[in-house]
Amino acid sequence: MSATQRLTVALGPRSYDIVVGRRLLAEAGALIASAVRQKRVVVVTDEHVAALHLERCRAGLAAAGIAAETIVLPPGEETKDFAHFAQLCEDVLSLGIERATAIVALGGGVVGDLAGFAAATLLRGLDFVQVPTTLLAQVDSAVGGKTAIDTRHGKNLVGAFHQPVLVLADVDVLETLPRRELLAGYAEVVKYGLIGDRAFFDWLEANGAALLAGDAALRQEAVLRSCAAKASIVVLDERESGKRALLNFGHTFGHALEALTGFGNSLLHGEAVALGMQLAFDLSARLGFCPNAAAHRVRRHLSALGLPTTLAAIPTATPDALIATMQKDKKVSGGRLTLVLARDIGEAFLCRDVLPATVAAFLADAARGRNSLEPALPLS
Ligand SMILES: NC(=O)c1ccc[n+]([C@@H]2O[C@H](COP(=O)([O-])OP(=O)(O)OC[C@H]3O[C@@H](n4cnc5c(N)ncnc54)[C@H](O)[C@@H]3O)[C@@H](O)[C@H]2O)c1
Repeated sequence: MSATQRLTVALGPRSYDIVVGRRLLAEAGALIASAVRQKRVVVVTDEHVAALHLERCRAGLAAAGIAAETIVLPPGEETKDFAHFAQLCEDVLSLGIERATAIVALGGGVVGDLAGFAAATLLRGLDFVQVPTTLLAQVDSAVGGKTAIDTRHGKNLVGAFHQPVLVLADVDVLETLPRRELLAGYAEVVKYGLIGDRAFFDWLEANGAALLAGDAALRQEAVLRSCAAKASIVVLDERESGKRALLNFGHTFGHALEALTGFGNSLLHGEAVALGMQLAFDLSARLGFCPNAAAHRVRRHLSALGLPTTLAAIPTATPDALIATMQKDKKVSGGRLTLVLARDIGEAFLCRDVLPATVAAFLADAARGRNSLEPALPLS
């Protein structure tokens, strides 16, 4: 069995550790005690996670003498709104908290983003601990300090950068995660290989299926390597003014796909990112930036595991609708899209030179089921 592993996100006074391992919920109190200022925390979770994992977490906290009050939210993206944010803040305040009381976010990205934003604003900033329980949250949303809620104008538009004081990623909690959610999180794991670590992608090709099937040691290694990859970018660019944008690989296409499918259950965020990453590779190949073979290799891996790789799978995502949605993205500047493209597996780069008309021509071909084998497109 792999031992618990720890890495540090080095952000000066906002530095914190990410602990990855097994059976960490049972040790939550001992692990959290040194990161918080008071032996009292408020655990925020959702109904699904509460039913499965809350008691172990509470027992782990109690074992180290940490008093925990609990707030349980309804599950799902709809909870990340102003109404639930307001209610959560009122509920936390009604517990009579002090500046030194910490919030513990026990759940997926929804709980982490919402509880994190509450922590960022309550009493002008409380400490908070991320205890992510989905693969997506363990490898992505719990690390890096982005917290937010959704508005009717779009997702994640009201929020704050607020780093946690500790991240505890217990891979055992992934055992209860439905396969579809696990796979959606896996897309973000693949992203780290595709943007900057070819050897990690090689490793995922060899181990991805076993990891998804339940091998805890492989899961631990994938979570640790993903967190290390994200941390290495976050420490260079905490507030996303440059390099951190590489983490949006697959997301410009992905967000448009999610918007066109209503941000709902028909296409999960990670599924949209998988298809978005494939489109980014296909477009990179069509523009002559990257070899066709790389785009094929990505398709082979994603589709073998059951992630979507063709636009044809999403009838509402017509090329016109996609391009119109992408142009509303915050990443558009001067009429040009900022895309993250690839020179090869493990070599992503930011590209501001692609005209929307070029992307539209590419998407029209992609919607007809054609991909990187098509003749090259001119860049602009
Ligand atoms: N802050 C960031 O940097 C960042 C990055 C990526 C995504 N996000 C946000 O993350 C959110 C998506 O996160 P998510 O995919 O974790 O979704 P989620 O939090 O909605 O969790 C998915 C589902 O799994 C359930 N669940 C959670 N843990 C479980 C477990 N161990 N066993 C069984 N069921 C479990 C939840 O109750 C929910 O029904 C989005 O709101 C997105 O905007 C934030």
